[in-house]
Amino acid sequence: MDTSTLQSEIRKIAKEKGIFILAHSYQPMEIQEIADYVGDSLDLSKKAMESGSKKIMFCAVKFMAETASVLSPEKKIMIAVEEAGCPLANMITPEDVVEMKKKYPKAKVVCYINSPIEVKALSDVICTSANALKIVEKTDSDEIIFIPDQGLGSWIASKTKKTLHIFNGYCPIHWLMDADQVRTTKAYHPDALLVSHPESNPKVRELSDHVCGTSGMITYVKENPGRCFIIATETGMKQRLEKMFPGERFVLATKNITCPNMKKTTLEKLLESLREEKHVITVNKEIADRARTAIERMHG
Ligand code: 13P
Repeated sequence: MDTSTLQSEIRKIAKEKGIFILAHSYQPMEIQEIADYVGDSLDLSKKAMESGSKKIMFCAVKFMAETASVLSPEKKIMIAVEEAGCPLANMITPEDVVEMKKKYPKAKVVCYINSPIEVKALSDVICTSANALKIVEKTDSDEIIFIPDQGLGSWIASKTKKTLHIFNGYCPIHWLMDADQVRTTKAYHPDALLVSHPESNPKVRELSDHVCGTSGMITYVKENPGRCFIIATETGMKQRLEKMFPGERFVLATKNITCPNMKKTTLEKLLESLREEKHVITVNKEIADRARTAIERMHG
């Protein structure tokens, strides 16, 4: 089947079965095009809850679907591709959190949403890139254990007076982005504005005109019409911005900023998962109950 036939078939099956399709902005464009909703990790966690649909198919990575499953245990939450994981989330274990809590007994644990559900269950509150600073500021302690991302953690540490004990996890595509290559891209486009994701390493962030999560990038482009933008995040976001703002110019900060896990979703795999309603996410009840408290604190 060609792309548009596959897309029509997906829409047809989703409608027949009453399945709401959610996609993250890093998904391939042909997936974003047929989703009921495309958003950042904060939006997706809310949309799954708010949607009237009892069945949700995630086109994203596993921690995003797991979070939704914990928030909406009465819904059937599925993921299009079961093995779409997140290397950053997999860098931390519950034992790591227990050890940090022993070392810093007075600190509260703020956990980035890119983490396993068992780690969320040991945390006081969850955050995303869109609300991390706000969450750290309103957490009732001047001492914070920030897990698992050192990119986001070091960015927040530079913006708050609180003491942060940061776990050393990282997102390979953001943290390992080469600052020299970014400098070269800037030199080719001297009038462009460089926007980077807070998971990026400090050397890239220092070169940036603005640092924000993926939904913040949409706002930034809206607020700066008529400019060229250098995008330092996953390539799906650049494609989304190009689609939303056809009059603006976008350039990737370096070559190949591609998340292999986000790109595991294909139209064929999505169609098969919808037809068979497979890859249902299940979370152990005790862990889900503890993680829910931390996630609900984020939503306020
Ligand atoms: P956003 O919440 O900014 O979409 O980021 C999600 C993510 O996984 C970044 O790597």
